[in-house]
Amino acid sequence: MDHFEIRNGVMHAEDVSLEALAERVGTPFYCYSSATIERHYKVFAEAVAGLGDGDPLVAFAVKANPNLSVLATLAKLGAGADVVSGGELARALAAGVPANRIVFSGVGKQPHEMAAGIEAGILQFNVESEAEIAMLAEVAAAHDARVDIAIRVNPAVEPGTHAKISTGGQDSKFGIPIERAHAAFVMAAGHASLNPVGVAAHIGSQLTDLSPIESCIVRLGALADGLRAAGHPVTRIDVGGGLGVPYRADQPAPPLPSAYAAMVARATRGWSARLLFEPGRMIVGNAGVLVSTVILVKAGTTKTFVVADAGMNDLLRPSLYGAWHDIRTLRPRADRMVATVVGPVCESGDTFADDRDIESVTTGDRIAFMTAGAYAATMASTYNSRPLVPEVMVSGDRWAVVSERNQPAAMLALDTRAPWL
Ligand code: LLP
Repeated sequence: MDHFEIRNGVMHAEDVSLEALAERVGTPFYCYSSATIERHYKVFAEAVAGLGDGDPLVAFAVKANPNLSVLATLAKLGAGADVVSGGELARALAAGVPANRIVFSGVGKQPHEMAAGIEAGILQFNVESEAEIAMLAEVAAAHDARVDIAIRVNPAVEPGTHAKISTGGQDSKFGIPIERAHAAFVMAAGHASLNPVGVAAHIGSQLTDLSPIESCIVRLGALADGLRAAGHPVTRIDVGGGLGVPYRADQPAPPLPSAYAAMVARATRGWSARLLFEPGRMIVGNAGVLVSTVILVKAGTTKTFVVADAGMNDLLRPSLYGAWHDIRTLRPRADRMVATVVGPVCESGDTFADDRDIESVTTGDRIAFMTAGAYAATMASTYNSRPLVPEVMVSGDRWAVVSERNQPAAMLALDTRAPWL
């Protein structure tokens, strides 16, 4: 469910016409609906409320959309944050997420990033290797701190999603292999500067089947039982994120948060631990679109190319994962065409859709790439020296540019001429 709909023949984000916005800010631009973000967060938080001991923590995976206004919208609703870099930590704090609702994940945290987390007083670090336990113990000791940690395990569960976004399989770089997790917990408990309080896992993203997540949670529970039996209190269990969103109307919708929560309730029945969740895509995926203008339509030998002013540098998912984003006109029409929708970037991979049946478009028509709220603007680059596009947030009839379009001159200003040139 989102708040992008056609009113008076034009696609609106809540009460704001996207055509009008395109006139004001130029294309391409991302547009986010705050009502959609709020709704998704509330639906998820309400579904998991009451699970586990104490208040569950819904820590939004900042990587999905780190825009300050997106984070501030979520912070106002009480969301926590799951961060994976010093940059994400700084953003979450700047947006008003309380430090004690921030979890620091990631397979390669550096000492300066650990230090930033310790200085901010975050809730916990999810550690992903024995080497990291030793490194964090040292950084924490240097700060005279005792930091809460969870052992992120690799549960060896194949999540059944795209290989590039699977993180729970045995050979993935993430987490400590589950058979070594007990020993890692004990190792951490041996450091005065570390306070192991929990276990964590995240097996992948855009999951459309709940059973791998359930297997993972069951394994986390067995691990926690074993640790408790050995006298180690386990008071927090972080079950990660991963719930998928609908990208295509013609495919079955992924499970709803209510079904996900029912599964978690079943898998965690009788546990006495606070539950932590790290949803990203589920909260913001359908809360954003990328608006673009058709530059021209080009006849190939066998294909018709629609060349848009947005490219793979603005929205990488189709090119990187073969991901599907629905493409709709801002002014719906009945005529249709079969087209290959591409961007202007000098790569054949700069293709959004291949031979797709879309509404007929021509030069100057505006189109929207749907479901572009997660892993979209945040994965943009300036390849081909194309400026990063602006992000606009809408709330009712209000709108604001919440990230500026960077200008070619500003990009050029970052470079310098070597003294010998
Ligand atoms: N927690 C951890 C430790 C993660 O690595 C991730 C995502 C999440 C939570 C959030 O997962 P979500 O609920 O959003 O599925 N760029 C890819 C997605 C990469 C996901 C990486 N990790 C894409 O565009 O599909």
